[in-house]
Amino acid sequence: MSEHIIITDDGPIRTIQMNRPDKKNALTTEMYEAMAEGIRSAGASAAIRCVVIKGVPGAFCAGNDLHEFLAVARGGQHGIGGRMLINALVRSERPLVAAVGGIAVGIGTTMCLHCDHVVASSDARFSTPFASLGLVPEAGSSLLAPRLMGYQRAFSLLGMARPLDAAAAQAAGLVNTVIAADQLEAASMQAAREIAALPPQAVAETRRLLRGSADDVLARIDEELTVFGARLKSDEARAALECFINRKR
Ligand code: COA
Repeated sequence: MSEHIIITDDGPIRTIQMNRPDKKNALTTEMYEAMAEGIRSAGASAAIRCVVIKGVPGAFCAGNDLHEFLAVARGGQHGIGGRMLINALVRSERPLVAAVGGIAVGIGTTMCLHCDHVVASSDARFSTPFASLGLVPEAGSSLLAPRLMGYQRAFSLLGMARPLDAAAAQAAGLVNTVIAADQLEAASMQAAREIAALPPQAVAETRRLLRGSADDVLARIDEELTVFGARLKSDEARAALECFINRKR
């Protein structure tokens, strides 16, 4: 388990908070494990009816820890920790609400594609600099993003690494509600309480019908990760990752 993931239950609502503010909530393998377990065990608990995923003020999530990516790129570490979280999101048996404030980079953005309801503060900024890092989209985003926002907008986000501010993310269909930063917590809990008050089996069946086959998404995730893993070992990715790690500020 990870000291950087805080899991709290309040009645029927579980909150999973990413809490590594000094690194803008960059996610390590331990954090992925803890988040995945929080989602899985929520599904096994009849008492929990909705899960809220949130970050800290100014940082929802800076994406995968780039030191871990670089370790893989250099051949020193195997496997991509994000896979655990992505699987748990796809297979989640409970509705997922994201409360996005500040930066949402890489998997910080793509995990929102798996959430049932997304509340963003007006300072939210969604970005996926995969191509800039010599990488490719992950977490099923190559399938889900074009479905959600259309090919051109998806290419702009995932291919050209152009960020979406909160208003653009709402226009693209990624975000339900945009709210002032100091109201983000209350608005996301309100949405979660609304979902939790509904008959849970009806909600579960509705999610299943709306989401369609998890197998399609999991197959795409496998395909993405095969390419992603190969890209991670490319000269392009190694150079981009070294550049971030060694940057002078
Ligand atoms: N992995 C590891 N460390 C990260 C990180 C990441 N993904 N994102 C931020 N950090 C660290 C920084 O290295 C810095 O650490 P330091 O204080 O020890 O030097 C700290 O978090 C604060 O980041 P900083 O860059 O100073 O904050 P900022 O507000 O100027 O910029 C970001 C924030 C997220 C825009 C910027 O840090 C960034 O671009 N990070 C990389 C995001 C990314 O590419 N993620 C992977 C996508 S696939």
